[in-house]
Parts: sequence; C-alpha cells; structure tokens
Amino acid sequence: MSANAKPAAERSPDSSRILIIDFGGQYTQLIARRVREVGVYSEILPYDAAPADIEAFGASGIVLSGGPESVSAENSPRVDPIVFSLEVPILGICYGMQALAAEFGGKVEAADHREFGFAEVELLGDDPLLKGLTTSGQMLKVWMSHGDRVEKIPAGFRPIAASANAPLAGMADVERKLYGVQFHPEVTHTDQGLEIIRRFAIDICGCPGDWTPANIIAEHIERIRETVGSDRVLLGLSGGVDSSVVAALLHAAIGEQLVCVFVDTGLLRLDEGDQVMNVFAEHLGVKVIRANAEERFLNALKGVEDPEEKRKIIGHEFIEVFDQHAAQIDDVKWLAQGTIYPDVIESAGAATGKAHLIKSHHNVGGLPETMKLKLVEPLRDLFKDEVRQIGTELGLPGVLINRHPFPGPGLGVRILGEVRKEYADLLRRADAIFIDELHAAGLYEKVSQAFAVFLPVKSVGVMGDGRRYDYVIALRAVETIDFMTAGWSRLPYDFLDRVSRRIINEVPGISRVTYDISGKPPATIEWE
Ligand code: XMP
Repeated sequence: MSANAKPAAERSPDSSRILIIDFGGQYTQLIARRVREVGVYSEILPYDAAPADIEAFGASGIVLSGGPESVSAENSPRVDPIVFSLEVPILGICYGMQALAAEFGGKVEAADHREFGFAEVELLGDDPLLKGLTTSGQMLKVWMSHGDRVEKIPAGFRPIAASANAPLAGMADVERKLYGVQFHPEVTHTDQGLEIIRRFAIDICGCPGDWTPANIIAEHIERIRETVGSDRVLLGLSGGVDSSVVAALLHAAIGEQLVCVFVDTGLLRLDEGDQVMNVFAEHLGVKVIRANAEERFLNALKGVEDPEEKRKIIGHEFIEVFDQHAAQIDDVKWLAQGTIYPDVIESAGAATGKAHLIKSHHNVGGLPETMKLKLVEPLRDLFKDEVRQIGTELGLPGVLINRHPFPGPGLGVRILGEVRKEYADLLRRADAIFIDELHAAGLYEKVSQAFAVFLPVKSVGVMGDGRRYDYVIALRAVETIDFMTAGWSRLPYDFLDRVSRRIINEVPGISRVTYDISGKPPATIEWE
C-alpha cells in the first residue's frame, strides 16, 4: 500500500499532526488509525514522497512504518534525509526501526530465525516510550513480523527492549527523541500497544491530543464554510453511512445551501426510503428531494437475468434519475461526495482521481456537463470509525451509523435472476426478520455483513394440513476485516432456527430457509 502524495486535508499550521512514512507495510493504515485514536491527527505519505511535501506537512513527529523489504538489500527503500533534518521525534517500527538504525550507522542483518506472531520482550531501560509498561520481572507480550533484525545499534542509542530472537528489539536516543521498536505496537495483539503510540504522539512529540469528534466537526465545519462560501451544494444521499454523515456535516455547516437527492430505486431494504426521509428531512431539517423511481427501475430490469447486465442497468438508471432531479435545482456549484481516507490511500499510486470512480453512482461524470460542478469531499481525511463517531456526535441514530454495507445495486443483486416486485417484497420482509433477530440477539455488530437472498425456485412444504409450494430464502452472514476475504459466521443453531421459523410463518410465499456456509474465496459475499 502506498499513499497519495496529495494531503487529505489542509489543517491550520498550528494544529499538531503526526506523519506516517509508508514503506509498504501491511499495518501502515492501522498506525495512522491508532495515532488518531489517541487524539492526534495523522496522515500517510509514501517513503518516496517529494521532500517538499514531507516538509510542508508540518509534522510534530514522524513514524516510519514496517515494510516487506530488507534494509540490507541493494536499492531498498530509504528514508529521505529531509525526515531527519526536521528535527522532530521519530519512531521506527519494524522495517522503520531497521531503516533508522541503518541511517545512523547501526548494523542490520537477516535473522537466523524469522519471527512471526506473538513474542515476549523484556523492557530494559527507563526511556519515556516503554518504561514501566510491565511490572518488574514481567515480559511484554508483543506482535512480531520480521525477517531482518538490528545487530548493532548506532552510536548514541541505547537498547530498550530484547526478545529471544531479537536481542535488540527496541532502541532509543532519548536526547534526540529517536526511537525504534522491532515489534508492532499498532496491532491489538501487542499488550499496551495503544499506550506506546500515546506516549510517542503525546508525551514525546508533545501533541495536545485534541483530535476529538467535537473538534473534528468544528474544524470541518469551518473548512466547508471557507470552501463553498455561499454557494449551493448538491449531495446524492444513499442511506449509507458515508453519505449520511456528509449530509449531517454539510447541514451543520451550511444549512439550507445543501440540497440532497435521494433516489428510491425500489431495490432498498424494508422501509429504508421512509427511514432516510424521517431522519434527514423530518428530524434534521435537511432539504431532501426524494425521487420515487421504483417503477422505472423495475421496468428497465424486466426480463434481465444476467448480474452484470442488471448492475449496468441499475447504474445507468440511477444516474438518469439523479440528473433529472439535480438539473431542477438552481444555482448549484458543488457536488458533495462521501469519499473517505481509505479510498484516498487505496487510490494512490494508481491513475489520479480513481477515488472518485469508487462511488460511481454519485460521480460528477454522470451529471450534465452544463452543471459544471466542483467537488467537495468533507470526509476525505477520515477513517470509517471517525466517520461513525462524528455521525453519532451530529445526532444520527445508531441504526444508521452502524449499518452493514449495502451494495449500490441493492436488492437487484440479491434477487437471483430476473427482478420482480413480488420477489423484492418477499425478500424485504425476510431480510427485515433476519436483521431484527440479529439485533435482538446482540449479534448484529459481531458480524460484518448479513442479509437474505431470494432464490426464484419453488420447493414443497407442509403447513397445517396444507401443502405449500413456495420460494426459498438463503441467509448469508459473514465476518471479515476488509471484505476481500470473508468467513461465514458461526451463528448459533437456536438463533438460525428462530429466524427460519419466523420467516416461514410470517412471510407467505416462502416455504424454506437455508444458511450459506461458503467462504470467500471461492464464493463472493453477494450471490451475484
Ligand atoms: P463481493 O460480493 O464482491 O462483495 O464479495 C464485497 C463487498 O462489496 C459489496 N458489493 C457491492 N457494492 N456495488 C456496490 O456498491 C456492487 O455492485 C457490489 N457488489 C458487491 C458487497 O455488499 C460486499 O460488502
């Protein structure tokens, strides 16, 4: 992973911030999140970012991330000298520690034993980073993931931690505020990991720790007002977390200047359209235009069975409907999008502007040329958990903020084959029962995504004295970190039994319920 050299945010120069230099480590994003968790703003720049960008960032401290390379290899990624000339505290993690050691004249070599997973380290010194994290004589349980190790620390440094496989598992030059740890404090498996990050960011770098939801909101409101002035802003509200928080934030910043268009495709979950209107239009007083387009979507999908074809049609109709409504709003100058920081990071290195393609449904490219809208992306510098926190702070209800992801094409890809209103209605009711029961059992937040799928095949059942010949519902619940791979949730049998009974009893037209036990890969999360 590498990051966009373009900063995610313009913060005022007096606000403190930590820079993470990315060497391609798998936990780099996590470092940035943890730093923010302790209340300090942070951003990621790639190790080969322009020195001017590194300097312009105005860091109060720098973290050098882990990375897959070997410091001893020729042409391995090096820290730009600008990092050291800034004279701010530095924390090197894993590869970052090795790079720091190499830079100051230490020695790094391939270890005889590569070390992956849990390790125990002994804390050696009285340095401000690790001192007193364990009671005397106790070892600190940490997460290691390295092949190379530091064999000799540079002059001026002292060893601060040792493990069986890495006698120099930590080093410090307290005077110059330079620190290195071979283990990963950002990973939750490391005991006191967050405290180590806190000590670096707050005690050592001197950051005030004022990156709190209330301050984030205040700062963003000010920035939005500066950016858009008295112009009108258009937002496609989808009911998802990101666009909802953008709506609440923009409303708090510019009130009536914000106009939202909410397209009801008829492929949404039970009562979702009413819920969105209720929260935004009625409670928050946001100006929302609801486009009721169910009929139009169903007509366009008539007779179409192929999943990709369905996706294309839904995407196309969406843009048409959105445009039609947007074109009727006078004097719009800006289009707001719910791009968040991981989108920015993941799009970096690839062709510029890829972040905008991720949310193609709300893409400015789909709007009439004549509107000539500028983009405003107020969540561009925020991680998902921060987006949720500020959403809550802005008064959005928990059901909306903690909602599982929902695909753009909605139920269109959860009704296998041809989409019909009858199928969508049955699916909505079955899905609502499943989700209700997950909430009631306290399981909703334990699974990453859960939903029902409609199978247009009929199966025989018996109810009372009657024979039934009705459709099948499949339940899907997965657990995942990144949605790239996923395991099926081991939901309790009694729970599944209750959901199945309720669906068959309460939804006439469904005679059988199955549970999907396929992992990803090879199966995808959605059925289409
Ligand atoms: P798959 O099915 O690819 O899903 O394992 C991974 C994640 O992506 C969501 N998904 C979509 N989201 N448009 C979207 O906006 C789509 O066409 C789409 N297809 C899948 C899916 O819900 C899961 O969270």
